[in-house]
Amino acid sequence: NQLTIAVVVGSVRKESFNRQFAEALVKQFPAGLTARFIRIDDLPLYNQDDDANPAPAVTRLRQEIKTADAVLFVTPEYNRSVPGVLKNAIDHASRPWGQSVWAGKPAGVVGVSVGAAGTCMAQQHLRNIISYLNMPQLGQPEMFIQWKDGLVKDGAVGPDSKEFVQKYVDAFAAWVKQQQG
Ligand code: FNR
Repeated sequence: NQLTIAVVVGSVRKESFNRQFAEALVKQFPAGLTARFIRIDDLPLYNQDDDANPAPAVTRLRQEIKTADAVLFVTPEYNRSVPGVLKNAIDHASRPWGQSVWAGKPAGVVGVSVGAAGTCMAQQHLRNIISYLNMPQLGQPEMFIQWKDGLVKDGAVGPDSKEFVQKYVDAFAAWVKQQQG
């Protein structure tokens, strides 16, 4: 049976390296996994006053996460942490209290930055957040990617990183399948 992976990209800019990488990465998903890209750029800023009356975009986000089998976060690092747009989406889908749709969803965490450390600080912060949200997470392998010309070529991961990415997606797929109770 087919497993749906909610792919949450932590950048909303048009030419986002993380989005380009995520779109290339999912092409390497093994059979059995389908990617569902989750939109976060139209979410309002989280405001607890709106919990009882969520915007349509919030309801959509919650539904898309709820019906997914696992989540893959692909995020940049902003000032050594996760971008606010990503944290905003996470906060939205974690509420109202007691109705978080993240709980129990297996998660992978990867990211692309222009710096050599390749989002390692942001990924650790994100792991902290999703641990609290009770999301089991793939510990290894890790994937810290530095953006370089040719990392993504014609919509696919370039030859230098293709095998590395394949190892990650295969490990992620096997682990996600294992997590299905
Ligand atoms: C950055 N960038 C960055 N890079 C990094 O490796 N560590 C960091 O802490 C930061 N901090 C940071 C803050 C802000 C506000 C911006 C706009 C950028 C650079 C970042 O890696 C680069 O802009 C990426 O291109 C962002 O990812 P997307 O949007 O291309 O997916």
